[in-house]
Amino acid sequence: MGRVGHKLTPSPPFPLVAAYGSTRRGHAGVGLGTEMSVDIRDASPSDLAGCHRCLDEVAREGRWLSRLSAPPIEHYAAFVAGLREANAPQVVAVDREVVGWCDIIPDASPVRAHVGRLGMGLVASHRGKGLGQRLLSLALDRARQRGLERIELSVLNDNAPARALYERLGFQIEGRRRRDWKRDGIYRDSILMALDLGAPE
Ligand SMILES: CC(C)(COP(=O)(O)OP(=O)(O)OC[C@H]1O[C@@H](n2cnc3c(N)ncnc32)[C@H](O)[C@@H]1OP(=O)(O)O)[C@@H](O)C(=O)NCCC(=O)NCCS
Repeated sequence: MGRVGHKLTPSPPFPLVAAYGSTRRGHAGVGLGTEMSVDIRDASPSDLAGCHRCLDEVAREGRWLSRLSAPPIEHYAAFVAGLREANAPQVVAVDREVVGWCDIIPDASPVRAHVGRLGMGLVASHRGKGLGQRLLSLALDRARQRGLERIELSVLNDNAPARALYERLGFQIEGRRRRDWKRDGIYRDSILMALDLGAPE
């Protein structure tokens, strides 16, 4: 991140994944009571293992993401390298270790180069404390700086905290994929949302 003008990478193999790399640093320390202080900042290469662990923890809950575990670390590292080349917005929440991520993956198509796809997550212990909004706000700032104009995402219909967060930051519902998710015979619909950032100045 922070290197404007790089070519876009092909569509990512791992949706809703955190990624790394920045020469710009954004910081927004967040006090969570007397014991917890969480830094919201651009990801760096040293966050790789922490982000992989964080993704794996959230994915293994088996109810929020399309993944049920993180990919092998070597695959993940290669994916992250591609994101860095694409100057993709990638931010993390750090409370001694990585506890959350938000990334926006630029589309590989030349006619969709203005579009990014958003994914995010926080480990369970750090949810419901406003960190999601801070992660998302910084990622959207980076998206504007990156020249992205439209941010898309897919969220499971019954993921109320995520939907509340996206709506609060201005995302609008554009559609629904019915029976999009299936696990142990249970189907769930996905809601398609998007945020129009407008054309770059
Ligand atoms: C989605 C997620 C990133 C939100 O981050 P967060 O820090 O927990 O969210 P915030 O505290 O900023 O805000 C959550 C909102 O959901 C609301 N909320 C929380 N639990 C809720 C529930 N059970 N039902 C309805 N609303 C709920 C909160 O009141 C808040 O909305 P408000 O500020 O308008 O009142 C986080 O919950 C998470 O990581 N979830 C698991 C992974 C995930 O779902 N990722 C997104 C996949 S699309």
